[in-house]
Amino acid sequence: MLVEASAPGKCILFGEHAVVFGQPAVAVAIEQRISVSIRPSVDEHWRLEGHRLDAKKHPHLNTLRHRLWPTKAGAPPLSIHIHGDIPRASGLGSSAALSVAACAALRVARGRWMTESRDGEQSWAEGYASTIDDTDAYSTFDEEQAGLRPSTYDNRTHQIHGAEALDVDECAVLGHAVEAAAQGGRASPMDASTCSHGGIVMLSDVVEHGAEHLYQRQLEMSDGRRTWQLHDLGMPVGGEDLFLVIGNTGVHAPTAAQVAKVAEAIQLEPERMKEIETIGTIARRGIAALKRGDYEAVGRAMTENQIMLRGLGVSCPELDALVRAAAPSSLGAKLTGAGGGGCMVALTRDPKTTSEAIELAGGRALVSQFGNDGVRVETMVSIPIWSPDS
Ligand code: MEV
Repeated sequence: MLVEASAPGKCILFGEHAVVFGQPAVAVAIEQRISVSIRPSVDEHWRLEGHRLDAKKHPHLNTLRHRLWPTKAGAPPLSIHIHGDIPRASGLGSSAALSVAACAALRVARGRWMTESRDGEQSWAEGYASTIDDTDAYSTFDEEQAGLRPSTYDNRTHQIHGAEALDVDECAVLGHAVEAAAQGGRASPMDASTCSHGGIVMLSDVVEHGAEHLYQRQLEMSDGRRTWQLHDLGMPVGGEDLFLVIGNTGVHAPTAAQVAKVAEAIQLEPERMKEIETIGTIARRGIAALKRGDYEAVGRAMTENQIMLRGLGVSCPELDALVRAAAPSSLGAKLTGAGGGGCMVALTRDPKTTSEAIELAGGRALVSQFGNDGVRVETMVSIPIWSPDS
């Protein structure tokens, strides 16, 4: 019995931090991925790389098992292995990719109960989705009933298994819930949705034209409810010769602390919300340029975004040095993710020169093209591993 699923990391072209306040943003799935494999544990303990799973050290996995793999309902402990090439705590969405891949593996390992109406229409008897409001990925609840839809579950008719049970929206909504729990209740759905859907994901405060609207997400935060409209931007027109070169400073910077730092700064000086709004304006300009394929303007918006992020206090000397090194050979460069360390990204037509400049300035360079897959199942053997009522 074994299931393995993988999800890509992400890098943000515009709008990090401001997106937590509901401003627009764009993130791209990168080539680097994380894979999560699960199989029944050899004993009564959950295991990660052979060691007992420490719930405090792995809040993402811990929250997910309560949503999808309830011990109270008889789900057996699992042994988890993680591998991949997304550097951790570096702003490349490693925790979102991990959550999304783990969610996919658990769903595929469990299958999904369905109901069928008299006229043959099928619907979910269990699960989480943007269009479902009788299960809630975000709040705590009776673990045994987690994810079971009260009215439909009693009328379940059959199960679907394997890749057929996998749902990209479900991985995105659970991934967001898990990120929010790990970030003290403040997280945009950007990372989880990009790692789940792949491609290029745009968030906005309104439903935008010229992009496929995916769904709306909401989250109650300490300072009010946020609403985001998520869109699939599709492949950039005429962007075949464009590359993202990511420069890793090697400085670890946990997202939760950076997000809290920005929230505190705004609480102390509410007029700094202007800076957040300016990032939103820059992101809008960048999005418009991306839609019309004007990559010089996309690069300029990235560089302007970096100036604002520095002002907000989330850059650092190591990031600034890599951004400066990449600038001459790229269309634009900025930090990506929460900042304070981690990675920067440059948009370039000359990935070799940009990578060399980043490495010379002390960074580790990774190259990625656009158009990468979202979450996917890699392996499944002897499934389901468990399902409710089995
Ligand atoms: C982290 O990758 C991006 C932030 O905007 C946080 C978030 O969106 O939840 C800093």
